[in-house]
Amino acid sequence: MREVAVIGIGISKFGELWDQSIRDIFAEAALSAMKNANIKKIDALYVGSMSSGLYTMQEHLSSLMTDYIGQRGAAGFRIESACASGGSAMRLAYLEVASGMSDIVLAGGVEKMWDVDDGSAILATASDQEYEAYHGVTFPGLYAMMAKLYMHRYGLTREELAQIPVISHKHAVNNPNAQYPFEITVDTVLKSSLVADPLRLMDCSPITDGAACVILCPLEMAKDFTDKPVKVKAVGAATGTIALHDHKDIIRLDAVRLAAERAYKASGLSPQDIDFVEVHDCFSIAQILVAEELGFFSFGEGGKALAEGQGTYGGKIVINPSGGLKAKGHPVGATGIAQIVEAVIQLRGEAGKRQVNNAKFGMTQNMGGSGGSCVVHILEAL
Ligand code: COA
Repeated sequence: MREVAVIGIGISKFGELWDQSIRDIFAEAALSAMKNANIKKIDALYVGSMSSGLYTMQEHLSSLMTDYIGQRGAAGFRIESACASGGSAMRLAYLEVASGMSDIVLAGGVEKMWDVDDGSAILATASDQEYEAYHGVTFPGLYAMMAKLYMHRYGLTREELAQIPVISHKHAVNNPNAQYPFEITVDTVLKSSLVADPLRLMDCSPITDGAACVILCPLEMAKDFTDKPVKVKAVGAATGTIALHDHKDIIRLDAVRLAAERAYKASGLSPQDIDFVEVHDCFSIAQILVAEELGFFSFGEGGKALAEGQGTYGGKIVINPSGGLKAKGHPVGATGIAQIVEAVIQLRGEAGKRQVNNAKFGMTQNMGGSGGSCVVHILEAL
């Protein structure tokens, strides 16, 4: 296998993009990634999208996007693994370059979620239709059950849980692409409308339009295109059970643990080596559970540690310098690639006010559903 580098990145604004269609949003990110990589031609394109058909009535993104960005003839693939679609597209693009099959490959993700009135039912297609969605439980409800159990078992208070989105919003203030780049307080969280007890509006990632793309090539070729290549050091992927009630313990995310173990093993690194991580905080409780499964905190201790600031600048590890899904936004199919974009920005030292000092190793963790699938990447500054 060849070593692989990211040589270009592109990302659209995240938010309500009423003036752009799904192809416009993707093309903006893709063309900006190609420009950033100084390339004019790609061999293959992988686009992650959870549900472009239901959100916009547009399927066949492999052909549409490849053609629309001026790359007709290149190999094209659309990848779906719910909210982990972007991370999955990245893994497959990485494999295509590592295997020697192609030299220049674009890995992207896109979702346009605001074009429908109520996307909850669409998001719920990523849960178990027969045993969860059919009975009316959507993702806020599933994560609310996880939050209730965690709070009960480990004594995490509602106020402590509220600190998680407060910190995410603080980080997003310095991210020009973020959907909600403003600060909030614990009071804002506690007074926001109840979505699924105990989770409130401000505990939830929002509905978002957006796209992100990266360009990959063999590491040995990377210096031909950029002075600042970022190495894809390792990838780990795993599946878990799609239904929450089938988890051995509903607050344990086996797919995350397995994916992380595989990435750590492939890289020879351990949690202590990682300088920052972009995690899949689709709900405030998710950030805690994921940070524990990735090995940054012991089980049951992550909640209080994060509430005390151990996941922000000056703490044990910087979590979601971008603002995360909560404040940067969560265009589901694009999220996994947006995490890679943030990691590359940090590892190039281009993150401005949100820069993590001396960042050498960055991790991304992208998850589908309530832990049904997960992809973890480790990237390295060279
Ligand atoms: N953070 C900050 N502000 C938010 C917000 C968020 N997460 N979500 C909405 N807002 C703001 C909106 O901008 C809007 O402000 P405005 O009135 O000034 O325009 C207001 O709050 C109401 O927003 P709206 O979108 O009408 O709320 P909603 O009740 O329709 O939807 C949720 C809120 C939480 C139900 C919806 O965002 C949601 O389902 N999120 C979860 C998505 C999800 O499950 N993703 C997959 C995870 S696995």
